[in-house]
Amino acid sequence: MQHSAMISDGDTGVVVEDSASLATEIDAFKGIVGQSASMQKVFRMVERVADSDSTILINGETGTGKGLIAYAIHKKSYRRDQPFVSINCGAIPENLLESELFGHLKGAFTGATANKVGKFEAADGGTIFLDEIGDMSQDLQVKILKVLEERCFEPVGGCKTVQVNVRIIAATHRDLEEEVQKGNFREDLFYRLFVIPIHLPALRQRRGDIPHFVAHFLDCLNQSKKTSVTSISDGALRFLMQYAWPGNVRELANLMERMVVIKGDGEIDVDDLPEKLKNEAPQNSFYEPEITGDGLCLNTAVSEFEKRLIYQSLEKAKWVKNKAAQLLQVKRTTLVEKIKRYELQKCA
Ligand SMILES: Nc1ncnc2c1ncn2[C@@H]1O[C@H](COP(=O)(O)OP(=O)(O)OP(=O)(O)O)[C@@H](O)[C@H]1O
Ligand SMILES: [Mg+2]
Repeated sequence: MQHSAMISDGDTGVVVEDSASLATEIDAFKGIVGQSASMQKVFRMVERVADSDSTILINGETGTGKGLIAYAIHKKSYRRDQPFVSINCGAIPENLLESELFGHLKGAFTGATANKVGKFEAADGGTIFLDEIGDMSQDLQVKILKVLEERCFEPVGGCKTVQVNVRIIAATHRDLEEEVQKGNFREDLFYRLFVIPIHLPALRQRRGDIPHFVAHFLDCLNQSKKTSVTSISDGALRFLMQYAWPGNVRELANLMERMVVIKGDGEIDVDDLPEKLKNEAPQNSFYEPEITGDGLCLNTAVSEFEKRLIYQSLEKAKWVKNKAAQLLQVKRTTLVEKIKRYELQKCA
């Protein structure tokens, strides 16, 4: 993603594309990492739905790349040369959100000293990205519903209806279906948004992508920070592969930045990792295989799970096999046989 192509308004969480950067056609997936089957599926979905103009609801934990995917959809669509306007519905004070979205007329409320164009109008012809839509008040949910249905609205303090042509992409880290059941989110709005759902898997559900992310961030950071960190050791990478990543890709990106800046050059090793991560990694190392559309081989998944547990016990026992066997409550001979079968070796 070309971050340079966007201007961020830090106060409101609004991002408006810089039209000057649109002169050159960009690859919508540039800079987006995802070799795992689940991310490849997401990319295929983006390709398929980009030009459809249908409303899209992106769901995923914090830091999984919802913003990135929303922008990629816009860039893949025929609206790519029109504005991409993003608004964080959760970051704007309740009383300002309506005016941010729909604009206001001079004198509409105290402090409204001039007419203001809202984000829907600013996005006319392009895409509006309603981020954290699950955090919107019930009142505003009603108003959004109207725009979704009729693509028109009235600015605050005005009675003239404004018609817009916008593609709507919404995102949330919440389970909206659950929020509907709890009575926090309007059911009618949910069904308006839930036209094409795209789910972004948590990083711990696509651990195979971690080495690719590491290489990608090393590359980007060495360029932007003018550092020359060459690689990451197998041992350090193993910890990164085992950690649960509650903050997902954002947490990994931030950690890589911290390590690259502090290290400056050479190879990142286990010693360079934060203690917290090293302590938490083993407890969170449960293997969570995914059943994709193509299915999953149960035997392979069970073997993989067994292999990981054996490796973990060996690491814990400093590769003393008697001790590792005790930890797993199996006979030493059983353990030795499995170590052979899985070709497990202590890494240098
Ligand atoms: N697949 C990816 N490839 C490269 N970078 C990624 C990827 N996914 C996420 N990132 C990076 O991780 C960070 C978080 O991504 P993003 O802001 O899109 O996540 P989000 O799901 O919108 O998070 P939040 O719910 O907290 O808003 C960004 O810096 C983004 O560039
Ligand atoms: Mg986001």
